[in-house]
Amino acid sequence: MDQAAAARTVTVITGASAGIGADFARLFADKGHDLALVARDADRLATLADELGRAGRPRPLVIPLDLAVQGAADTLLEKLQAAGARVDNLVNNAGYGLLGNVVDLDRKGQLGMIDLNIRALTDLTLAFLPMLRADKGRILNVASTAAFCPGPGLAIYYATKAYVLSFSEALAHELKGEVSVTTLCPGPTTTEFQSRAGFEKSPMMNNMPKMSAKAVAQIGYDAMMAGKRVATAGFSNQAMAVAMKLSPHALLLPILSRIQGARASTR
Ligand SMILES: NC(=O)c1ccc[n+]([C@@H]2O[C@H](COP(=O)([O-])OP(=O)(O)OC[C@H]3O[C@@H](n4cnc5c(N)ncnc54)[C@H](OP(=O)(O)O)[C@@H]3O)[C@@H](O)[C@H]2O)c1
Repeated sequence: MDQAAAARTVTVITGASAGIGADFARLFADKGHDLALVARDADRLATLADELGRAGRPRPLVIPLDLAVQGAADTLLEKLQAAGARVDNLVNNAGYGLLGNVVDLDRKGQLGMIDLNIRALTDLTLAFLPMLRADKGRILNVASTAAFCPGPGLAIYYATKAYVLSFSEALAHELKGEVSVTTLCPGPTTTEFQSRAGFEKSPMMNNMPKMSAKAVAQIGYDAMMAGKRVATAGFSNQAMAVAMKLSPHALLLPILSRIQGARASTR
């Protein structure tokens, strides 16, 4: 679709029904961006769209979609096209983690993290790239401080976020001057992430100091608009990230294992 033929130009935010994604939506709307909100829960998206549609702003497009399903990126493209919308910013925020040892966790749930955190993020990026390149657009991919090292007790989650960081940094280099690609690495943040991940199983994880979703969204927004390659949210997470990158894994693995309540095999 030509820019001229598009009825509206939107920022797509995935995982907009809760947590950091909902605060991204509020912030982008405040800054005057028209939005398309994506997540599975249609009612929550509609409530947020109503909230944002007040005060004379355009009501965001609401696109309920399970992004972990194969072909979701094509479905999203089709729905945006049907609504006459082009995309100038893509915020790949939807994601989840599961706390526990790999051998104990449900296999489907674990593969689901790869489907959402890796596959959907990659497919959405590829699907929207032609549009974003044509309009010198922006991508914000949400990773985590978990991207900086392996994480027993959250092994697959950490691995998915290492992928997000690696993929996004390389892409930022490939697309320099055409599309800005920013990776946001939040540390613990107060959202529904902890309950979905089952953090009640680890008092140490549950009781970690957390940033607000609003503060994290602001850091992500500012970094994206400044065209930064990577932004780690907050000073203590930045310090943690440096420690994680510099420490030998032999030292780090038992510490993280203890914090995340993972147990070493006794067999
Ligand atoms: N909170 C933290 O401590 C923390 C730390 C580091 C990184 N992060 C990252 O930050 C991002 C946002 O997480 P959050 O903390 O805001 O968690 P959250 O409150 O649980 O929100 C997750 C969002 O993702 C959506 N989502 C989940 N599964 C989906 C699916 N299959 N298809 C489409 N949407 C789906 C959820 O909506 P529906 O349920 O309606 O689909 C929700 O809007 C994630 O990538 C997470 O890994 C979070």
